[in-house]
Amino acid sequence: MFEPFYHLNQTPLSRVILTDKLYDSLSMDEIIGRLNYAAERQLFAVLTGDCGTGKTTTIRRFTQGLDAAHYNVLYLSGSKLTPRHFYKGLLEQLGCEAKFYRGDAKGQLHHEIELMRGIHGIQPVCVVDEAHLLSREMLEEVRFLLNFKMDSQSPMALIMVGQSKL
Ligand SMILES: Nc1ncnc2c1ncn2[C@@H]1O[C@H](COP(=O)(O)OP(=O)(O)O)[C@@H](O)[C@H]1O
Ligand SMILES: [Mg+2]
Repeated sequence: MFEPFYHLNQTPLSRVILTDKLYDSLSMDEIIGRLNYAAERQLFAVLTGDCGTGKTTTIRRFTQGLDAAHYNVLYLSGSKLTPRHFYKGLLEQLGCEAKFYRGDAKGQLHHEIELMRGIHGIQPVCVVDEAHLLSREMLEEVRFLLNFKMDSQSPMALIMVGQSKL
């Protein structure tokens, strides 16, 4: 194939590229620095860019750089993410079976996060990819999700990733 002809070690722009083999750019460092800040302080962050500009790849590198002893990365991606699927997806990644009703599942998620933080000292970092496809209802739900203890505390770092229209 063309790789040996051009003396390439690997097919360029392939999705299987390892994160330590990525092209290092100043902008990627800056994004990862900001995402680390959001993870440390459990903030809400939004990462936007056109299709194929490297958002998911940057997230992959960011999450691989996080210390697993302090952070638990929860990753969701899906065009038809309803609030129920959202809570179910997060709870499954935390090893729990979600309760049926949305309100119950939300309470369950908050409870699991409190346990994870209180007992193990691990902070959740939730990444929602392709977030430009989220419905209005789902975006509204995110607001309520982040309201924890009368809005005095953030339950997680939430990073929404999507195309520019997000
Ligand atoms: N820093 C990088 N170095 C090398 N390849 C990259 C880099 N960033 C992205 N790519 C490649 O570009 C392609 C598109 O990136 P992707 O993260 O899927 O974009 P997006 O999520 O913004 O649509 C992928 O195949 C990926 O391997
Ligand atoms: Mg992507």
